[in-house]
Amino acid sequence: MREQNIYDNQKFFEEYQNMRNSLSANELIEMPQLLELIGDVTNLSILDLGCGTGGHDRKFIEMGAKRVVGVDLSSNMINEENKNTSSNKIEYKIMSMNDIDQLGEKFDLVVSSLAIHYVEDYDSLCKKVYHILNDGGRFIFSHGHPMDSCAILQDYANNFVIINDKKYFLISDYNNEGKRISHWFVDGVETYHRNMSHLVNGLIDAGFQLEHMAESYATKEIIKIKPKYKEQNDHSYYVYFKCKKEYSKN
Ligand SMILES: C[S@@+](CC[C@H](N)C(=O)[O-])C[C@H]1O[C@@H](n2cnc3c(N)ncnc32)[C@H](O)[C@@H]1O
Repeated sequence: MREQNIYDNQKFFEEYQNMRNSLSANELIEMPQLLELIGDVTNLSILDLGCGTGGHDRKFIEMGAKRVVGVDLSSNMINEENKNTSSNKIEYKIMSMNDIDQLGEKFDLVVSSLAIHYVEDYDSLCKKVYHILNDGGRFIFSHGHPMDSCAILQDYANNFVIINDKKYFLISDYNNEGKRISHWFVDGVETYHRNMSHLVNGLIDAGFQLEHMAESYATKEIIKIKPKYKEQNDHSYYVYFKCKKEYSKN
């Protein structure tokens, strides 16, 4: 299966890093909301899909996790992550999350932060995650929100109309799932749009019990720091899922 590795494009990587070093929506909104859903990780073994350089894995060790394995397709991202990590409880692997069935290890918790929408075959990934979890284990992740990812024209500067001084975001092609190509730092960035029922049913069909779902929003404090993010309350950028492997089906 052909997979785009855009984070190894040097221009993309440098601009992405600059964005992450400012107060981005990842830092202000996504990371705190995902960590809240994850909760206590004391003594858990954790697999992070698309771990990037974001520091979630270092945070998990600070929070008391027993061991963290981070996998990412991009050597740029993993090398950066390695530079920042001193803990011998964290291991990074340059590999696709599509190959996690080859890890030969089971985990108590599988997490992923804004990486699964780069993967084409969501249903098969959910099944692989189910199989590498211990019984009682959880899969908790964020994904681009379908209301944000649906438009064929993925042009963040022009994805709205203004009527009576109010911004209305464009929703189109919601049920035409599949690849979207956007200009994000560089041309040709590939992600995958799935509608909400697909995101939920992929988990249920894999055997998971869905425990909680959430959609990104901006608090007053966030809006004070970055007024632009008040649009999160018109239009969520991210959706979050928390689900559990109750028992082994086989
Ligand atoms: C938006 S970044 C998020 C990084 C990190 N999770 C964070 O929140 O800081 C998405 C990451 O997913 C990785 N990625 C994309 N497709 C992947 C795949 N098939 N397997 C593993 N990692 C992948 C990218 O290389 C990139 O590091």
